Amino acid sequence: MKLQGKSVVVTGASSGMGREIVRLFAAEGANVVAVARRAERLEELGAELADAAGSVVPFVGDVSDLEVCEGMIDKAVAEFGKLDVLVNNAGIMDDMATVAAFSDEKFDALMAVNVYGPFAATRKAVQVFLEQGGGGNIITVSSVGAQHQAAGVVYGASKAAVNAMIRHTAFTYRAEKIRCNGIAPGGINTEISSSMGSVDMDGAARIQGVQALMPGMGEGIDIANAALFLASDDSAFISGQIVAVDGGWTSF
Ligand SMILES: NC(=O)c1ccc[n+]([C@@H]2O[C@H](COP(=O)([O-])OP(=O)(O)OC[C@H]3O[C@@H](n4cnc5c(N)ncnc54)[C@H](OP(=O)(O)O)[C@@H]3O)[C@@H](O)[C@H]2O)c1
Repeated sequence: MKLQGKSVVVTGASSGMGREIVRLFAAEGANVVAVARRAERLEELGAELADAAGSVVPFVGDVSDLEVCEGMIDKAVAEFGKLDVLVNNAGIMDDMATVAAFSDEKFDALMAVNVYGPFAATRKAVQVFLEQGGGGNIITVSSVGAQHQAAGVVYGASKAAVNAMIRHTAFTYRAEKIRCNGIAPGGINTEISSSMGSVDMDGAARIQGVQALMPGMGEGIDIANAALFLASDDSAFISGQIVAVDGGWTSF
């Protein structure tokens, strides 16, 4: 098993790729604090994985809340005695409105989840890693939308911010062996469209040229497999990278 005895926090664990990451990590022996707002989904996941090699502890909360971002890391240390890996996966999409039509309210709400959450969790994790003195590992789920017009303007900006944070943190703490990497999924079959509300048809139409190049949809397990590689010692010498998992969509 590739993650035997590792202490891991995974955000956005109640559906989509986060749930697949928890399933795969627990099968590989990890002890996981599984974070999301929907308590019943987390309870179901915990029950499903009761006989897994590792264990799953539900942690209900909103990652735009500082207390949640710090509390979930404290929970992993309290339950498992340490923190080895943080997976910042929770995220929401915007409604594809053009910049001319984008509201401040939506901007703030999206940035709170997609940028502040990973920032606050990364800060706390790095503090714990430095105290522990044995390196650390942070994986953040970004998007191909950070570099290509594959989704909305503010969503893309949020993921570009995350990419900068990943690379900066990796470089800053390379001597302490705190590895930070990102995964940039392409189109993946999950529940994320439910976070969009009503799609802005004008904005969506304007990026159809990029959407038309998408080679098909991936599955949550495709992202979980990449996360397992980045969480394990198989990637011990990889840090500061954003790995696209998109079927070749952005290979142009
Ligand atoms: N699906 C794609 O095509 C795609 C492509 C590129 C990047 N991504 C990125 O992949 C990541 C995972 O998305 P997904 O596709 O798996 O979507 P999903 O099925 O909608 O899952 C999103 C997860 O995030 C959680 N979440 C949302 N807001 C939260 C908040 N404020 N606090 C805590 N948890 C929150 C949701 O749980 P609760 O609602 O229970 O809180 C859910 O578990 C996101 O960062 C997304 O931007 C997705």
